[in-house]
Amino acid sequence: MNRNPSRSERGYDRLAGWYWLLEQPVFRRDLQRAREACLVDLPPMKRILMLGDGDGRLLQKVLMTQPQAKVVSVEQSSEMIALQKRRAASVDASHRVEWIQGDAITVPLQTGSFDCLVAAFFLDCFTEVELSHCLPGWLSCVANDGFFYHVDFVIPENGWRRMRAKFWSWIMHRFFRWQTGLQSASVVPVEPLLDSKVWAERSRRELNHGFIRSVLYQRRSSQLC
Ligand SMILES: C[S@@+](CC[C@H](N)C(=O)[O-])C[C@H]1O[C@@H](n2cnc3c(N)ncnc32)[C@H](O)[C@@H]1O
Repeated sequence: MNRNPSRSERGYDRLAGWYWLLEQPVFRRDLQRAREACLVDLPPMKRILMLGDGDGRLLQKVLMTQPQAKVVSVEQSSEMIALQKRRAASVDASHRVEWIQGDAITVPLQTGSFDCLVAAFFLDCFTEVELSHCLPGWLSCVANDGFFYHVDFVIPENGWRRMRAKFWSWIMHRFFRWQTGLQSASVVPVEPLLDSKVWAERSRRELNHGFIRSVLYQRRSSQLC
């Protein structure tokens, strides 16, 4: 197929092999701890949608902790998908994953067809305008009583933690703008985009002095439009 990879796709292709290493100097194991933090709170599932899972470290854990689940992984970068495939094979679970290489914004996904949507350090690839446009569509893929597992950076409300988070967020956004053409200039709060009449928070963990948050939301019954 004759495709013109986007700047973002080319950037993540370049970064894929040493993506894990980028996190080590500042976060050590905290990003991976955050990715895995609420997995224990998920009940057994049949169908899971993962968006922008990158090099597959979370996918591997999901496959291990959800032995009955089939996973659809939507990821734009072929190099990241290659790493995901290696990690799924290492736990003998490749047959449970369907990979879709493409832009999550345009990939068609069926409404209400997943027990859980997983987005770890993925929503921060988008601006507030893009998110307010795309997030409702992604969330609509979650069935009634299903879950949305969101892991991301947050800027704490005040004090030195806020200063520290703003400093590292500024560095990261500049780095990813340079490497992948990232448009957003700062962390976009996702909670205001979630309707509390539809989504109930079930568990939450905070790491790295409040800079990283893992939250598990559940769709309240009969809220799927
Ligand atoms: C910041 S990385 C996060 C990777 C991983 N989820 C993690 O926990 O580190 C964002 C990932 O999302 C992918 N991505 C970004 N925008 C995308 C889009 N519009 N459609 C599909 N994948 C996308 C990138 O290729 C990359 O693998």
